[in-house]
Amino acid sequence: MRLLVTGGAGFIGANFVHLLVREYPETAVVVLDKFTYAGDRASLAPVADRVEIVEGDVADAALVDSLVARVDAVVHFAAESHNDNSLADPYPFVHTNLVGTYTLLEAVRRHGVRYHHISTDEVYGDLELDDPAKFTPTTPYNPSSPYSATKAGSDLLVRAWVRSFGVEATISNCSNNYGPFQHVEKFIPRQVTGLVDGVRPKLYGSGENVRDWIHVEDHNRAVLAILERGRSGETYLIGADGETSNLDVVRTILELMGREADDFEHVADRPGHDLRYAIDASLLRDELGWTPRFTSFRDGLADTVEWYRANEAWWRPHKAATEAKYAQLGR
Ligand code: NAD
Ligand code: TYD
Repeated sequence: MRLLVTGGAGFIGANFVHLLVREYPETAVVVLDKFTYAGDRASLAPVADRVEIVEGDVADAALVDSLVARVDAVVHFAAESHNDNSLADPYPFVHTNLVGTYTLLEAVRRHGVRYHHISTDEVYGDLELDDPAKFTPTTPYNPSSPYSATKAGSDLLVRAWVRSFGVEATISNCSNNYGPFQHVEKFIPRQVTGLVDGVRPKLYGSGENVRDWIHVEDHNRAVLAILERGRSGETYLIGADGETSNLDVVRTILELMGREADDFEHVADRPGHDLRYAIDASLLRDELGWTPRFTSFRDGLADTVEWYRANEAWWRPHKAATEAKYAQLGR
């Protein structure tokens, strides 16, 4: 099996490449990554001699065509992925998430290559805190931010290329991931690395917002199950019943790092901030037999805190520039 992994130098993509090298050594892996601020060669350093790394843009049609021509399948992780950045400057989101996905779809159509599209539960908008409902594959799309709108658009492109052109493709929409190699702009790494520097965690607004946390390795094992056994044209929701309020996440991090549970501050809220996400992953569980291995969010979070403590050399180069961006937003 020859696999093209886009965005393999980012958080989830790098963990995916590590998993492939560790457990599927017979797979030949080509990584295509633009190495934006979010892509880091250091994340691939431990496996650099086992994979081919190509620096380039997923919207570069000639480059994408030449790479797709020599693989059996594409797993498309590459994206602009941060909501706060999409509010400050939406254009890179339109370019990478929409034009990039279009470019890959045209290439897999030409070469008859299997395609798996990595997406997010944020395409469905948000839920009330007391709503018993969770997102399912038939929940109507209702994205809130430029990030989630461009991810929603990219999902719809995939569906159209399946129906109109017979492209063999699957889509997965996953909830919030945590684990090693996540950029320090994201919620959990920002607070953990801030605490290493003696900075109190910063909660947007009230902190009552709920995210459905899943360990990145559980996400990636679900992606492998879909690649191996998923039905073309199907959408699989990935989640591990990890609903937790931001307030509770911060309290747990503080406790794990030996601080008082109320030693945080409230900062300005994110405009349009989604209230709650929750995933019904029963299709994935029932049809593909997937179950998460990280069943305790607290234990997974403890491992993650330890990883950031032990890998300061990895995150330190990104920290100051990230906080400078947040300072401009007043958060
Ligand atoms: P990330 O921001 O950590 O990594 C994105 C990677 O894509 C980086 O290596 C970056 O250099 C690369 N990239 C960006 N633009 C590119 C371009 N034009 N061409 C080639 N490479 C480019 O993102 P992540 O958190 O690892 O997310 C990966 C995927 O998973 C995204 O599609 C995202 O929408 C989706 N997702 C993320 C989460 C989450 O919690 N992080 C949850 C559900 C789905
Ligand atoms: P984030 O990691 O940006 O992911 P997403 O926006 O895709 O859910 O944020 C997760 C939650 O944490 C979200 O509700 C926003 C909130 N948040 C904070 O409260 N403080 C922070 O410093 C950051 C970065 C996020």
